[in-house]
Amino acid sequence: MGTVLITGSNRGIGLEFATQYAAKGWTVIATHRRDTVPDSLKALSEQYDNVSVETLDVLRHDQIDALAAKLQGTPIDLLINNAGIMSTGDPASAQTFGTLNHDISESYMRVNAFGPIKVAEAFFPHVEASKLKKIVNISSSSGRVSRPPPHSGNMWYRASKSALNGLMVTMVPTASKAGITVVMFEPGWTWTGKNEKNRQQGQLDPAVVVAAMIETIDGLTLEDTGRFLDRDGDTQPW
Ligand SMILES: NC(=O)c1ccc[n+]([C@@H]2O[C@H](COP(=O)([O-])OP(=O)(O)OC[C@H]3O[C@@H](n4cnc5c(N)ncnc54)[C@H](OP(=O)(O)O)[C@@H]3O)[C@@H](O)[C@H]2O)c1
Repeated sequence: MGTVLITGSNRGIGLEFATQYAAKGWTVIATHRRDTVPDSLKALSEQYDNVSVETLDVLRHDQIDALAAKLQGTPIDLLINNAGIMSTGDPASAQTFGTLNHDISESYMRVNAFGPIKVAEAFFPHVEASKLKKIVNISSSSGRVSRPPPHSGNMWYRASKSALNGLMVTMVPTASKAGITVVMFEPGWTWTGKNEKNRQQGQLDPAVVVAAMIETIDGLTLEDTGRFLDRDGDTQPW
């Protein structure tokens, strides 16, 4: 057990991480980007004394630095860069080669790649000061470049996850010197929507996906650093 800080923890995979770590007795710093505390985190912090809720928009360097300063001296055993966007609400064509909307490309890069590296940089001393020393990044199979995808869509999302992987791997030499393990996860296709009617066949239950990742995270050592893993800990192609 230890302390975990999770970005984008008010819903989906992030909320599931917060819930499962809270139930295990970890000290959970559950962060969100909303103006007011989301109901999901209000309920979680009421249920568990070991959950604190903080505001952290990964696009807001001022907020990231302010939270890092507020938590100065607090060791963070596990930093989970989970926050991400898969869509900006635009049609699929906006991310498809031939009809790309170039105005939205930066949003993906900033949230999915540049935000996480800023968060890692800001909380690096907290992780370094901890016992377990782990930084986990929720990437995606979409971040792969070694196999052509079945279609030329999701281009901005795919590029942002490739960039996330590249940035985090580049952090590894510095992290290794500090004894910090850094990994990327491909969690699998997970149902995180609201309306069950929209759930598609094959979408996994977040509780199952996150339980598997937690078990894998538990077993990580410095020897695993720089790996791209599926939820069960098997190495994935880049
Ligand atoms: N679900 C899947 O099948 C799947 C597969 C592969 C990888 N992933 C990755 O897993 C992670 C979580 O996915 P999910 O399915 O749980 O997504 P989700 O249900 O859409 O939740 C995304 C979370 O990220 C937060 N977020 C978005 N922009 C943010 C920002 N600028 N600052 C802080 N938080 C921000 C959201 O906050 P708001 O509620 O305020 O929007 C929300 O809490 C993402 O990185 C995603 O790319 C998911």
